Amino acid sequence: MSGSVSPVTTTPTGADPVRGTAHGKVILFGEHAVVYGVPALAVGIDRGAWAQVDAGADADAKSVLHVRGWDVTVREDAGDEGPPLARAFRDVLAATRREQRAAGRAPVGTVHVEAEADLPPGGGLGCSAALGVAVARALDPAASAESIAARVNAWERVFHGNPSGIDAAVASLGGCVLFTRGEGEAPATIERVRVSETLHLCIGHSGQASSTKSMVESVARIRERRPEITQKTFDAIHTLVKNARLAIVDHDLRAIGQLLDLNQMLLSGLFLSTPEIEQMCATARTAGALGAKLTGAGGGGCVVALVPDAARGADVLAAWKAEGFDGFAATVKAEVQDVREILQKLHERVLAAGSP
Ligand code: PMV
Repeated sequence: MSGSVSPVTTTPTGADPVRGTAHGKVILFGEHAVVYGVPALAVGIDRGAWAQVDAGADADAKSVLHVRGWDVTVREDAGDEGPPLARAFRDVLAATRREQRAAGRAPVGTVHVEAEADLPPGGGLGCSAALGVAVARALDPAASAESIAARVNAWERVFHGNPSGIDAAVASLGGCVLFTRGEGEAPATIERVRVSETLHLCIGHSGQASSTKSMVESVARIRERRPEITQKTFDAIHTLVKNARLAIVDHDLRAIGQLLDLNQMLLSGLFLSTPEIEQMCATARTAGALGAKLTGAGGGGCVVALVPDAARGADVLAAWKAEGFDGFAATVKAEVQDVREILQKLHERVLAAGSP
């Protein structure tokens, strides 16, 4: 895994190809509890996917998508029995054209899409959503981040059945989001949480495959057997998500780190951790991480550690490597402050300075 993406989409000039990029996702707080209505905090990292669109088609005049690295090529006219990637491509093209027509714009024609994801598939880092967002964005650079996320839900449904939508939202919006699953048919609520200074993370793979479906089912079984205790765990996670949100806004790294450790303890109590995950968390803390936990489904998969800076991140990665675990450094970029917010703060300062 190498390289990184920036959340930029270039607009075509003449026959230039159009490029779209997307973020990978890391759940910092609230996985599993989010299934039962607790909000989760997730961040978009500077590693994800890119896609490039050229006018063109295959010999049958059909749009095609080629995913580098996987070396897979699919066509938009694959039927319902076709491979999942082909159906996902067909659905996102259809959603794009529908929305373009509804907005009175010319729908995208027949295209050749070249794409690549720089995330481990099945690692809980939102690989499929990042690829979908990069493709959707390259197909329609003028669309808003929210609209792209909605279109990619169609793509995600092909891979994940009934996705919560968190992966597509984070892949498209980047930054930090507070995500609450909608009850019944209600849509999910996605709220941006401002990241005031860049966050440095290390993400490592435990080397064990993990299945989101079976881990979610295992928590459901525990909940059935011990409803009160499980509810207490979810309530505790809810409280720490609220505190984590404040800590992120304040850039209080020490507090974020402690909350990551607490969340890990609560997830271990639901039997979602493994000896490898525990080892990776302990190693990261010894090497200078401020906190560490599993991210996503658990039972294997990835660990996330918060570090104060890139140098400490290199120490954590070296310590993991010495124990046979692969990992990479990732950042969550600080968001540019809203101009009105800056003016308001300046105004408050001037008033404060003028007051006796
Ligand atoms: O490992 P991932 O990225 O599929 O994350 C799973 C997150 C869960 O909360 C365990 C499930 C869910 O649907 O939110």
